[in-house]
Amino acid sequence: MELKSFVFYCSPAGTTRHLGEVIGQTLAALSCPVESCVLGRDEERVKRLLREIAESRERVCVFVGSPVYSSHALPLVMDLIDRLPRRPEAWAVPFVTWGAASSGVALAEMGSALAGRGYLLPGAAKVVAVHSLMWEAASPAGAGHPDAADDKIVAQLVREVVSSLRTPDPEPLAVEVLSYQPPAAAAVLAPQNLEMAKQLLPPREVDEKLCTQCGVCVDNCPVAALDLDPFPVCDDSSCIVCFNCVRLCPERAFSVDLNPIFEHIRKRARTFMESPASVIFLPPDRLVDPGNG
Ligand SMILES: Cc1cc2nc3c(=O)[nH]c(=O)nc-3n(C[C@H](O)[C@H](O)[C@H](O)COP(=O)(O)O)c2cc1C
Ligand code: SF4
Ligand code: SF4
Repeated sequence: MELKSFVFYCSPAGTTRHLGEVIGQTLAALSCPVESCVLGRDEERVKRLLREIAESRERVCVFVGSPVYSSHALPLVMDLIDRLPRRPEAWAVPFVTWGAASSGVALAEMGSALAGRGYLLPGAAKVVAVHSLMWEAASPAGAGHPDAADDKIVAQLVREVVSSLRTPDPEPLAVEVLSYQPPAAAAVLAPQNLEMAKQLLPPREVDEKLCTQCGVCVDNCPVAALDLDPFPVCDDSSCIVCFNCVRLCPERAFSVDLNPIFEHIRKRARTFMESPASVIFLPPDRLVDPGNG
């Protein structure tokens, strides 16, 4: 059976995008047609691809990627899953990047939501990455990741998925496998949410004497929450506190001290120690080397 793939992701700081690109390149190398889409900025493209998924006569495989924020996938990624069309021969691969603090319950929730839309899972991945709030830290959690070994297992995942989905009757992954957190950890992690992160993180205030109104922050806000009026103004209800605006401002016009957050992140990393940090999940008949450092 012919296979058509789609890759959707949101990636404020670029690591999830990097893995989306590894997935896209591996699919292309396997002569598997693929369309990729960044969530949050181009709703027309999202709508067009969702129509294509609904109308495609081929078997489809939808890769859906999110960074882990406060133990969960981003709301706009979960919204995308909720909008996936119900159809036969629908397969989906959730993948997350996480900043070495805790991968939380994001992958389990994405897997359940995909199953709820009628999508079977041929595989999944969690990949450790440099923590996107620690760009100014001396030794950020997850430094150096995703690295070549991470890319390699993601490419391996894609090869196994394609090989499986090119057979008439592929074996799906049991969704429960994605609930890998020990119950005590899951009980602590599941109630966390983005609102709690917003309370914990320092406010971002623009110093109007430094701001040149260049628009870099507006252009790099992944959810279009910023407007220049005439200085950056944030719509707090849509802001996901990715801190791209702070990190990428060429004038360092946002006065923010993230140092107190660094110890909080390191403490979480010590508490929830996950090993191996990057893992691909495959059905038993496809299992290669499931873990890696
Ligand atoms: C607001 C916020 C919350 C985060 N929460 C977590 C978390 O709960 N656990 C974790 O390990 N990393 C967390 N991270 C780090 C990101 O998951 C990690 O850096 C991810 O790779 C970023 O993906 P991106 O580069 O595609 O944006 C958080 C980052 C931000 C900005
Ligand atoms: S990136 Fe910095 S200087 Fe440019 S508009 Fe935003 S806050 Fe102002
Ligand atoms: S306003 Fe800043 S912190 Fe909020 S989502 Fe946009 S870039 Fe991220």
